[in-house]
This record gives sequence, structure tokens and C-alpha cells, in this order.
Amino acid sequence: MLSTISRVALLDGPTPLQTMLRAGAHLNHPGLWIKRDDCMSLALGGNKVRSLEYWLGEALDRNCDVLVVAGATASNQCRLAAAAAAKLGLECHILYAGDERTHPNLRIAALMGPKIHFLGPVDEEERGLLAKRHMIALEAAGRRPYLIGDPVVGALGYARAAQELFDQTRDQKIELRHVIMPGSMGVTEAGMIFGAAILRQSWTFHLVSVEYQEEVLRKRIADILDDLCRLTGFVPAINMMDSVRVHMNQLGQGYGAPTEDSFHASRLFGQLEALVLEQTYVAKTFAGLIDVVTRRVILPEEGACVLHTGGVPAALA
Ligand SMILES: Cc1ncc(COP(=O)(O)O)c(C=O)c1O
Repeated sequence: MLSTISRVALLDGPTPLQTMLRAGAHLNHPGLWIKRDDCMSLALGGNKVRSLEYWLGEALDRNCDVLVVAGATASNQCRLAAAAAAKLGLECHILYAGDERTHPNLRIAALMGPKIHFLGPVDEEERGLLAKRHMIALEAAGRRPYLIGDPVVGALGYARAAQELFDQTRDQKIELRHVIMPGSMGVTEAGMIFGAAILRQSWTFHLVSVEYQEEVLRKRIADILDDLCRLTGFVPAINMMDSVRVHMNQLGQGYGAPTEDSFHASRLFGQLEALVLEQTYVAKTFAGLIDVVTRRVILPEEGACVLHTGGVPAALA
């Protein structure tokens, strides 16, 4: 189903699926697993690499010669778009909101040789408009630009990741019941949920919201799922949203604001599993994992896998 959709390989193969024995012993849950999407060779990796495989597939199909990406200076997506462009020998233009020039993600992106524009203090809507204007200017100059970020195409990367996770659980004889991951823009989440539906796996998805209120997050995901059905022609007999549990108790003061629990999670999983957890997405997700396991929302006999979505440079910000 996905094999007919263009994709550029940026991963070296499956990312590791590892057991977390010491964290499991500490939390009285013997079946805790981690899918290490922080372990990829492209410029320190992360979830955006999987989306970029499909964004770049579409860009090359359209014979584009320059990638355009917009984001905050802390953006993992901008870092990895610049890295993927370098790898493929494509030009990349990054439009950064703000003027702050020290974030590790920006500094790594700059090493990959993109053209960087600072937009000053603009909000997300304005940033989007300026990116479209930049695309029009490039087209007027005879270029063939591709704008990175379509959520539906990006989600295909995680539909593929679901297959990868399924293959690993089958090979390692793991009976997986629960998947824990960040709840944010919905791209990674919808991809995994759609991939599980293709595989007819009834995993329960625990989305630890790091950005939006529950209704907003659910709508974002449901919309992407609808579009994935249209794009692929695959329409499952089940309501895919039935497998989703949203956890709002780690959001704290909102997007990007660490909490006591997220600091605790990054220390705990650092000390027990040698993991590097940044605060915006990953530490809050792991705080959510601690919460659902200790409250026995996930029972000790139920296999559970947390997705580490990367963002490692931000841990040094
Ligand atoms: C490290 C990391 N984790 C999680 C996410 C959230 O992914 P999504 O936007 O697909 O929900 C992002 C998005 O930027 C990210 O950089």
C-alpha cells in the first residue's frame, strides 16, 4: 500500500527497539520497551527524518531544485531538512521566526550549508504566509521550490514506522499492547495509528499532549487520518480514533515549558537507561509513561513501548 508512494531513503535501516530493564524494575513493569528514533545517522536524527523520506520523495517526483522550510530557531524539522538537502545535494532555504541565533538545532542546521533568513518576531500564521511568499519569489526567479511540511505526506513516514515496529515485535516475540508517544501537531501520531490499522494491530496509543487541548489534538489527528485514507485508498473497517487515549496531565504551563515531572523524567531515564530527553516533547512523554504505569492505566503484564522522537540537540539548549 505504501510501497507505491515515492520515498527517499534517509534511514540506515530499522531504529533499535530496546528493552528498559532498569526503568522497568524501578517502575514495577517488566515489559517496558523503547523505540529509539533518536538513534539515526542523519545529523543526530529524530522523528522528522521519517517524514522527510516522503517529503523528499515528493520533491524529487516534482523535479524540485530547492527545499524551503520555516520554523522556530529551536526547530528539529529545519535542522533535519537542511541535513537531508545536504545529503541529496539540493539547495535549502530556512526561514526562521525570531532572531535568536544560539540554539543548538540552528547551529547544527547552519553547518549543513542552507541559506538562512531571519523573519524577526512573527507568529505561526505570519511565518506560513512569508514562506508562501518566498516560494512565489523563487518560482518567479525560475526555480522549482518544494515547501517542506505537508502533514499527510509527512505522516506516511510513521505509517512505515508502524510496520517496522511490528516486524521487530514479531521477531523479538514481544506482545505489544500500548504505544506511548508525544501528542503535538498530529503528524507522527496519525502516521503510527494509520500504520497500525493497516497491520490490523489493536495497539492502544497513549498520546501525552505537549501542545494542544485534547479536542484540538484529536481533530488534527482525525483530519490527517481522513486524508491518509483518501491518499492511499485504504479505509479500515474500524474507527481508528478509538485506539487513542490523550493524557493532558503533563502539559503544565504549555508548549515548551518544562515541568517538575519532565525534569524528574529526564533525570530518572538518564540515570537508569542513559537516555537523553529534551524537555519540549520527549521528557514530558516519559513523564506521561511514568504516570500511566504507576497509576496502572497500563498493567505490568501489558507490553508497552515508548517512542523516543529525538530532538536531542535541544537537550543542550
Ligand atoms: C523531537 C520531537 N518530538 C515530537 C515532535 C512532535 O511531532 P508531531 O509534530 O508529528 O506531533 C516533534 C515535532 O517537531 C519533535 O521535534
